[in-house]
Amino acid sequence: MAADKKLYIKTYGCQMNVYDSERMADATGYQTVDSPEAADMILLNTCHIREKAAEKVYSELGRLKQFKQANPDLKIGVAGCVAQAEGAEIISRQPAVDLVVGPQAYHRLPEMLAQVNAGERAIDTDFPEEDKFDHLPRGPKARRAPSAFLTVQEGCDKFCAFCVVPYTRGAEVSRPPARLLAEARDLVERGVVEINLLGQNVNAYLADDWTLARLIRELAKIDGLARIRYTTSHPNDMGDDLIAAHGDVEKLMPYLHLPVQSGSDSVLKAMNRRHTAREYLELLERIRAVRPDIALSGDFIVGFPGEQEADFQATLDLCEQVRYAAAFSFKYSARPGTPAADRAHVDEGVKTERLARLQEMLTRHQYEFQQSMVGKTMPVLLEKPGRDPGQMVGKSPYLQAVFMDAGPEMAGRIVQASITRSARNSLAGEIV
Ligand code: 5AD
Ligand code: SF4
Repeated sequence: MAADKKLYIKTYGCQMNVYDSERMADATGYQTVDSPEAADMILLNTCHIREKAAEKVYSELGRLKQFKQANPDLKIGVAGCVAQAEGAEIISRQPAVDLVVGPQAYHRLPEMLAQVNAGERAIDTDFPEEDKFDHLPRGPKARRAPSAFLTVQEGCDKFCAFCVVPYTRGAEVSRPPARLLAEARDLVERGVVEINLLGQNVNAYLADDWTLARLIRELAKIDGLARIRYTTSHPNDMGDDLIAAHGDVEKLMPYLHLPVQSGSDSVLKAMNRRHTAREYLELLERIRAVRPDIALSGDFIVGFPGEQEADFQATLDLCEQVRYAAAFSFKYSARPGTPAADRAHVDEGVKTERLARLQEMLTRHQYEFQQSMVGKTMPVLLEKPGRDPGQMVGKSPYLQAVFMDAGPEMAGRIVQASITRSARNSLAGEIV
């Protein structure tokens, strides 16, 4: 019965949500469709990290209500971090919602759907002990795109003063290595050649005595798996064994997203980051010592409560030293319930001006990094057709998009490419 029902999922936020959406679609047994009009069920997989996230979900739900008027059998569900944070509030504020499921309860989706289809409303935002993917049925052995995500760890125990993740995703939980290795082998059988290991704090991965480094070394033994990446990491969890892996595991790609948030020690302290700018820079030195070409990316928050001009200048200085290949920067905005929310805020105009100055520098560095690729030859994983016919877009070891002349039959192949041109967000290359 489920097979002829249609599901429309709208995914917000991080790659972990993209991964979760795929698993949830599998769990429902419904067929996924690209538009809400055609659906028997609409599921919003929400993210809570940006400003006013919950309000945006409520207004989206207000819009979706109209589809229920056209199709009274339509079911509407909310998943993800806003579901976790708001819980029963969503059910009471928006009568059109049939189901609210938090990120740790996706294994209960099949029973919750049965409940919903019987005309009840279902809610589960508990944090159970068991692996939420354990009970999810696996789809048929369909081919997968060459690059896939694999969630290895969820939750966060760090409690940065600005961040909702520890409250919405709960404590750090690592999935068992045996299951991850089996899932990775399955992905490779389906045509996957690159796996990106996901976690809110992925380098805090610890299952018995398995660290992330050990997991990477074991994954690297899988024939047919050519590339391994991981994201997102906290500087304090960069263990010696993980640094060593960057030096000697060939399949581990030379790209590291290692957010620092600020270059000022007093701001770092107020953020509860538990390291100094110097410690961060020394860590990068150790990583670059074993992998000199590693591309670094980071996240930054400007205008955190208490940030003075000198603190902001320290962030600019740090960026000037590191020269990030890519970066994400945000104005601080308060998340209710987090420690920094009640502190005195930096003036909005000052935040806007600092963000512009920081982004000007980060963009310049990113452009210089892109430019430095021209004339180099590097392995590119061809992934999907590009904008023009006869063109494919692939990925460099440094996570850059590379456009090349190639046919769609080349998807999943790694070719040597000579880089001919660079733009801010992509490169052009020729197969050599
Ligand atoms: N305000 C601004 N940026 C934030 N981030 C997380 N919480 C906030 C907030 N309250 C940013 C951080 C984090 C990234 C995913 O989002 O830089 O690393
Ligand atoms: Fe949020 Fe990352 Fe800090 Fe955890 S380490 S609290 S996820 S910013």
